[in-house]
Amino acid sequence: MSRVIGTEHIEQARQRSRIVFEILPDDIVTDLARETAARLGIRLVDGPLEKPSLARTDGNTAMRRGLYRRGAKWAAPKPVTQRNVRRFAKVALVGAGGVGGNIAHLAAMADMADEITLIDIAPGMAAATALDLNHTSGITGVRARCVGGEDLAMVAGADVVVVTAGRARGPGMTRADLIDVNTRVIHAAAEAIKSNAPNAIVIVVTNPLDEMTVEMLRATGFPRERVLGMAGTLDSSRFRNALAMAAGVTPADVSAITLGSHGDEMAPITSLARIKGRALERFLSADQIADCVKDAITGGGQVVALKKSGSATIAPAHSSIELMDHIRGAKVGPVPASVMLEGEYGVSGVVLGVPAHLGQTGLVGVEELRLTPDETDALHGAAEAIRTRLGL
Ligand code: LAC
Repeated sequence: MSRVIGTEHIEQARQRSRIVFEILPDDIVTDLARETAARLGIRLVDGPLEKPSLARTDGNTAMRRGLYRRGAKWAAPKPVTQRNVRRFAKVALVGAGGVGGNIAHLAAMADMADEITLIDIAPGMAAATALDLNHTSGITGVRARCVGGEDLAMVAGADVVVVTAGRARGPGMTRADLIDVNTRVIHAAAEAIKSNAPNAIVIVVTNPLDEMTVEMLRATGFPRERVLGMAGTLDSSRFRNALAMAAGVTPADVSAITLGSHGDEMAPITSLARIKGRALERFLSADQIADCVKDAITGGGQVVALKKSGSATIAPAHSSIELMDHIRGAKVGPVPASVMLEGEYGVSGVVLGVPAHLGQTGLVGVEELRLTPDETDALHGAAEAIRTRLGL
C-alpha cells in the first residue's frame, strides 16, 4: 500500500528525535516533505531497512533498565558490593553437641569451607552429624563436605578451629562453676591444635568463656591474634533483641554492643546504643533500659533454666559464624570478641570482650570506644573478676 509522505510525517519524525526516515518502494514523497527533511537534517533513506534485532539480556539487567530507564540502552551500573571473601579450606569443630552441630549446619549453608570436620568424644556423634549434613547437599547443592570422628588429631590443617567441647551449665550453675572440668578439655584440645593445626585461628566457645580463652592462649602458646573468644557477639545480639522488643522496633533498627566478661560482669554499653540512630532514652524509660541490660546478662541463664539440661545452642552458633564471617572477609567493621588485652582500655594480661577488627590473620586491632566512666569501671571490674577466678 502506498503512502503519501508529507511535511507532517517528517515533523513527527523530528519530534521523535529521528535522524533517518524510511521511504518504502511504493511511497510518494511530496516536494515540501523533501524540503522539510533537508531543513531538519533528516535523511530520507530507501527502505525497507533491516530491523535491529531485539537486545537479549538477563532478567536482572532488564529489571535495572526498567527501574533506571533513561535511554533505550542505558542500564544503571551494577552496585559495587563485591568483597574479597575467602573460602576456608577446612573448618574444624571440637565438640559436636548442640552448638558445634549448629555451627556445622550454618557453615555448610554458607558454603564457607571445602571441608567441615566435627570432632566429639561421644562415639558416633560427630560422624552421624557429618553424615546427616552431607545428606542435605542434594537439596542445598553446597560443595562443603562434612567429616566426623572422635580423634582430636582430625583438626589437622584447619584454617579455623572452633572449640565448643566441655560441660554445659545446669540450672542454678554459673559459668564459673565449670572452670575446673572444662580447663582439662581446653588443654586437650589445645595440645591437638598446637601439633596438628599450628597456623589455625582458634575460636573458644567453651565456658567460662573468658577464662577458657586465657587457658587456650596459655596451652597453645599462640599469639593473641589467633585465639579469640566468642561471647560479645552473642551477648550483643541478646541485648539488641531485648532493646528491639522493648521499643517495638525491628532488631535491624538497633545498634548496641556488650563488652566485658561473658558472665555477671558483662557490660552492655548503653551510652553508645542507638535505636533508629537515636539515644535509647528517646524510646525507653530508665527502667526499661535497665531491664534490657538485665535481659542481656541473664539471657544464657534463662535458656538453661527452661531447658533444665544444657544451654543455648542456636544463638551461640550464629555468633560463632559471625566471627568466622569477619575472619573470611564476608563482613567488615568492629565485632565484639574476647581477646587478650595489651593495654587497651587500660587493661593488660587478661581476656575481655571488646570491639575487635578481624581478618584473615585473626585479630587485626582492638577498637577503643569512648565509654562513660561507669562503663570503663565496669570493664575494669570484669577484668579484675576474671583475674581473681584464674588466680592471676
Ligand atoms: C550462653 C552460653 C553458651 O550464654 O554461655 O548461652
